[in-house]
Amino acid sequence: MYIEIKNAVKKYGQGENEIFAMDGVDLSIAEHEICVILGPSGSGKSTLLNMLGGIDSLTSGSISVNGKEISGMSKKELTAYRRSDIGFIFQSYNLIQDLTVKENIQTVADISKEPLDIDELLDALSLKKYQNHFPAELSGGQQQRTAIARALVKNPVILLCDEPTGALDSKSSRDVLKMLEKVNNLYKTTVIIITHNEGIAEMADRVIRIHDGKIVKNIKNEAKKPVADLVI
Ligand SMILES: Nc1ncnc2c1ncn2[C@@H]1O[C@H](COP(=O)(O)OP(=O)(O)O)[C@@H](O)[C@H]1O
Ligand SMILES: [Mg+2]
Repeated sequence: MYIEIKNAVKKYGQGENEIFAMDGVDLSIAEHEICVILGPSGSGKSTLLNMLGGIDSLTSGSISVNGKEISGMSKKELTAYRRSDIGFIFQSYNLIQDLTVKENIQTVADISKEPLDIDELLDALSLKKYQNHFPAELSGGQQQRTAIARALVKNPVILLCDEPTGALDSKSSRDVLKMLEKVNNLYKTTVIIITHNEGIAEMADRVIRIHDGKIVKNIKNEAKKPVADLVI
């Protein structure tokens, strides 16, 4: 198994304010899987993603990626892990407003060891004709596709998406999800998607349901659907 989470606990606060955002999570995610995580607001979805991304550290338990324990990494190893192995996409696109689409992607390529070809990426994400546009000149869907390209240019092994379609209408959502599907096929990236939209779960190889920091359901989806056929 590629990602292995064992009895992971994350506690925030002390005493009366104590909250277990993750309360004994066990989870395995295979290489190249699309995994969709569902759960109500405050159930611990973002916490789980942040832990996987090495942004924050566990209170107890372990997370290993390809046999390497994240909590055992030195500061330098952790920086390298975040920089080269992980791509992050959020509900807000976090693009640099005074850089063009291509320049936004270039900034990440510049600090990557083996970046993907930017023109190929622009093509794959249907962004070629917008490459010289500024974010303010783009629709939400186009901005999110730019954010995906920026996260992908470093050729991460895992793409972590925290409600990537949360701010999008259904057409733009489908466009963005099609890109994630394509990326998963083309670059074999493991894609983990947090969403509130139940319909999105049908594109997943694995569907996880979280409640109060616990996994309450973990199913392998044998009837995975193409994004084009989703009802979202
Ligand atoms: N940095 C933090 N400090 C204190 N509490 C936090 C912090 N981050 C998250 N929490 C709490 O942990 C719980 C899970 O949060 P989160 O992972 O953001 O949930 P979700 O993404 O499912 O909405 C919530 O109760 C939230 O308030
Ligand atoms: Mg969240």
